[in-house]
Amino acid sequence: MDNIYILAIESSCDETAASVVKNGREVLSNVISSQIALHTQYGGVVPELASRKHIEKINQVIGAALSESGMTLKQMTAVAVTYGPGLVGALLVGVSAAKALAYGAGLPLVGVHHIEGHVSANFIEHPDLKPPFLCLIVSGGHTHLAIMKDYGEFEIVGRTRDDAAGEAFDKVARAIGLGYPGGPKIDRAAKEGNPHAMEFPRAKIEGCPYDFSFSGLKSAVLNFLNHEKMAGHEVSQADLAASFQNAVVEVLVNRTILAAKEYGIGEVAIAGGVASNSALRAAMTAACEKEKLRLFYPSPIFCTDNAAMIGAAAYYEYKKGRKSGWDLNAVPNLKLGEREKESAGGKS
Ligand code: KG4
Ligand code: ZN
Repeated sequence: MDNIYILAIESSCDETAASVVKNGREVLSNVISSQIALHTQYGGVVPELASRKHIEKINQVIGAALSESGMTLKQMTAVAVTYGPGLVGALLVGVSAAKALAYGAGLPLVGVHHIEGHVSANFIEHPDLKPPFLCLIVSGGHTHLAIMKDYGEFEIVGRTRDDAAGEAFDKVARAIGLGYPGGPKIDRAAKEGNPHAMEFPRAKIEGCPYDFSFSGLKSAVLNFLNHEKMAGHEVSQADLAASFQNAVVEVLVNRTILAAKEYGIGEVAIAGGVASNSALRAAMTAACEKEKLRLFYPSPIFCTDNAAMIGAAAYYEYKKGRKSGWDLNAVPNLKLGEREKESAGGKS
């Protein structure tokens, strides 16, 4: 069988990224231009600035991805792009670039769901991982427990009712003065702190054992901070970071293990930016060892936004004949398991 080379593009939030992926699992190049320095000044991602920066960087990033792979656009089998969910203006930059390149080179276009990309990041370094498996998806915008039943096919088992796990990290980091992006900063600060110094709530949702809720936890941290401030007490940033992180990690791990046991699934993967959290990786590893479950997680560079994961997901979409039409549009609130309907037949 001929090799399949996919040029993949990702621009859904604050990273402009492009990658060349061979046969869905071999990354030939992975170029990421991060906008963190730009958004740090504002304490979070400013959508309009993100779109403008994507426009500035996209051609350069795509050019670098092709040249690092040692291949040309003409040698690609298809062009893939994230078309949702994400910031609409940011997504449009990637979608427009992908359409123009694919059309110009006479290549098929494959629209990819960002979250399917995050899950597929696990395929890059684990050649033996194949569906079905249970996946905990924890990013800045999403928290899902889902079974990948087949490539690109999901059954959602649990989800957050309010904030995503990454969002909780970002909001708490801002409140305790660590700034943006919160997740990695809390991860680092927590290493010096006592995870049992403060007791924060672990929310349970009545009747939905696999759902999550993080807004109460965030409020509890803010209330605790205000209370201590009013009482004139010093609060240890490290203890607070460690105690908050411990509360998040405990619910993520407990619910994942519960779902794996209940659904009788022996293989567990984690995905998304928060999957690079060192405490989550350690706690999930220990819990999976205890329960005799096989655990998979991507290297940190493939956990946060990148285009290699989009190339991995696109390979399986392409093999299923799912190509997008030239009318592919950005879908900012695309749900997991949903596809753009009008072009499912592949008009390209
Ligand atoms: O997957 P991602 O790069 O973008 C989205 O699709 O949202 O995830 C970004 C999120 C942010 O909320 C960031 O704070 C969080 O992932 N994150 C982390 C860590 N690294 C990134 N959270 C906890 N610990 C980390 N080490
Ligand atoms: Zn993401």
